[in-house]
Amino acid sequence: MTRHRKGGEFAVILVTGGTGNVGGHVVRQLVEAGEKVRVLTRDPDAHSFPDEIEVVPGDLRRPETLSEALSGAPRVFLFPVMSGLDGFLHAARRADTRHLVMLSSAAVTFPRLGWIGEKHLQLENEVSASGIPSTFVRPGAFMTNDLAWKREIQEAGVVRAAYGNAATAPVDSRDIAAVSVRALLDERTGESFTLTGPESLTQIERVRIIAETVGWPVRFEELSRDEHRQLILRRLAGLPEAGVDELLDLLAENVGKSADVLPTVEEVTGRPAFTYAEWAATAGFAPTRP
Ligand SMILES: NC(=O)c1ccc[n+]([C@@H]2O[C@H](COP(=O)([O-])OP(=O)(O)OC[C@H]3O[C@@H](n4cnc5c(N)ncnc54)[C@H](OP(=O)(O)O)[C@@H]3O)[C@@H](O)[C@H]2O)c1
Repeated sequence: MTRHRKGGEFAVILVTGGTGNVGGHVVRQLVEAGEKVRVLTRDPDAHSFPDEIEVVPGDLRRPETLSEALSGAPRVFLFPVMSGLDGFLHAARRADTRHLVMLSSAAVTFPRLGWIGEKHLQLENEVSASGIPSTFVRPGAFMTNDLAWKREIQEAGVVRAAYGNAATAPVDSRDIAAVSVRALLDERTGESFTLTGPESLTQIERVRIIAETVGWPVRFEELSRDEHRQLILRRLAGLPEAGVDELLDLLAENVGKSADVLPTVEEVTGRPAFTYAEWAATAGFAPTRP
């Protein structure tokens, strides 16, 4: 295990986004690896962490709030805020940050970038231009996106969506975190890791796996593109319409095709990626019975 000493102490690793999904797993896995971890959050009172984890206030878009977070933390897991990262990068350079591992997106590798790819590529370029040694972790669709189905599964035993036969190879956030943690601990600067889950699955197949995992009947109901579009706009308030159309276009393009499955998770971590069934078993889809 690689550890950085600073002033006789093992240096802390700063995890931004550590109160969220991927960052939360990064925090847990770093602690399990014996590292000292500091979590940045805009609202420390809203989150509780074990005592050994330092929690500091700060906002990635407001560099004047970041000096405490960056002090003595040469390695940083970086959550990709979509604008205003330049201030953070200036602050990180001043604080002598030596390695940034940024959560990016597989969309930066797509032949047609679209809104999501362009946004993430712009962030990657800003990070590269900062001169701070960096690593980009580029996952495809997250398994956790399907948590959007949880309520209707529990309440009505149904999932409604367009393009039921569209396949993706969704990836478990624990694997995205595990690759990020290896990049931090093994100092894999200058590298980019594009990740998928271990199997190509259509939406209909994923609903079947959830039903089998929870032992509860769940059916898939096909929506029109426009009905699904309205649903995403309600669920993902904040995603611009261009991003919503891009998600729908990706689904439409993947109907009847197998999604690419990449070996990255196993290559980097030395163990197989979590399957969709393994994820679904931990995702709390089972209805709470009265
Ligand atoms: N969903 C997908 O299929 C997919 C695929 C590829 C890539 N991605 C990337 O993954 C990201 C989502 O990751 P996730 O699921 O881990 O996110 P998440 O669970 O929504 O967590 C968001 C985290 O970001 C922090 N944050 C947000 N704005 C901040 C700011 N201004 N300053 C400091 N912290 C801030 C939040 O911290 P506080 O609220 O505590 O401050 C929180 O910890 C997407 O935005 C996208 O870039 C997603």
